[in-house]
Amino acid sequence: MATAVAPNQDFVTRIPLPPQRLDALSRDILALKKKLNAIILAHNYQVPEIQDVADFVGDSLGLSQQAAKTSADVIVFCGVHFMAETAKILNPNKVVILPDKDAGCSLEESCPAPKLKQLQDTNPNFYTVTYINCSAEVKALSDVICTSGNAVKIVNASPKDKDLLFVPDENLGAWVMEQTGRKMTLWKGSCYAHVEFTHESIMRIRREYPDAPVVAHPECTRAVRLLADEICSTEKMVEFCKKSPAQTIIIATESGMIHRLNKECPGKRFIPAPVANCRCNECKFMKMNTLEKLHACMEDLNPRIELPKSILDRARLPIERMLQISSQPLANAG
Ligand code: 13P
Ligand code: SF4
Repeated sequence: MATAVAPNQDFVTRIPLPPQRLDALSRDILALKKKLNAIILAHNYQVPEIQDVADFVGDSLGLSQQAAKTSADVIVFCGVHFMAETAKILNPNKVVILPDKDAGCSLEESCPAPKLKQLQDTNPNFYTVTYINCSAEVKALSDVICTSGNAVKIVNASPKDKDLLFVPDENLGAWVMEQTGRKMTLWKGSCYAHVEFTHESIMRIRREYPDAPVVAHPECTRAVRLLADEICSTEKMVEFCKKSPAQTIIIATESGMIHRLNKECPGKRFIPAPVANCRCNECKFMKMNTLEKLHACMEDLNPRIELPKSILDRARLPIERMLQISSQPLANAG
């Protein structure tokens, strides 16, 4: 249903947009897109009406790949701030705008660049593998970036003679260690939304739907991952659900994902995994973007991402390294 968001609340209250307003805004956005020669990129967690006007909807990896190859003059990034920054780093000469500049991320907050530098200085042999959910300043201190969709491949391709430092998500890092057998020093950050899923909340929904497989994001805690049939990025969730013979599937990630799955897998039933006191789970940052704010940012070409040249130059290298490793066939990736 069409929505507008009251921002900066822990639990977001959405007020439905009247259908005529929804249609008018969507039409205007498409006209502005043409006029500006813009591309609209949206993360899988965005509200349905934003996903429905986007040129591309996907996970962090897919969105970076789209940003790297677009010939549009303006990139309209519907996601959180670090995602729009990544698009700017890859396109320093393009205009990159986002609906709400305050759409942050708890993982980004957990890892300030000066603190990371302090830790890096304790071991000259560290090779820093950084989850894309971080600031441009932290990217500029990194050797290589990864997303949940390619973290295993990136770690497998990392130099064997280095001590790996994985920042900032300790849950994703712990899962990657299990998958690769590679020991890493983990930064103690987490996604405030994904750690809300608990062993008990997943057991509860499993009892309700005993035949439904559970698909979980690797940002979930180990207690939840142990109960999952599949652990993967949001884009790989779409692939898994398309291929799975199951008609009902439990999804342990941000509930925006359900709209994308319903569109891509018609006829199947997707159950958002519950958290302790709620039927589903939302990221308050992702939900700060609304169709109205999207329209306004395209009219004003603001808020706009601007970064110092030194950060742009230094942060581009580890992102390009990630994109290059990601594009290699598995056997050559190390
Ligand atoms: P994906 O890259 O899997 O879409 O995850 C992004 C994210 O922010 C998860 O919370
Ligand atoms: Fe960050 Fe978690 Fe929101 Fe993803 S879901 S943007 S990791 S706070």
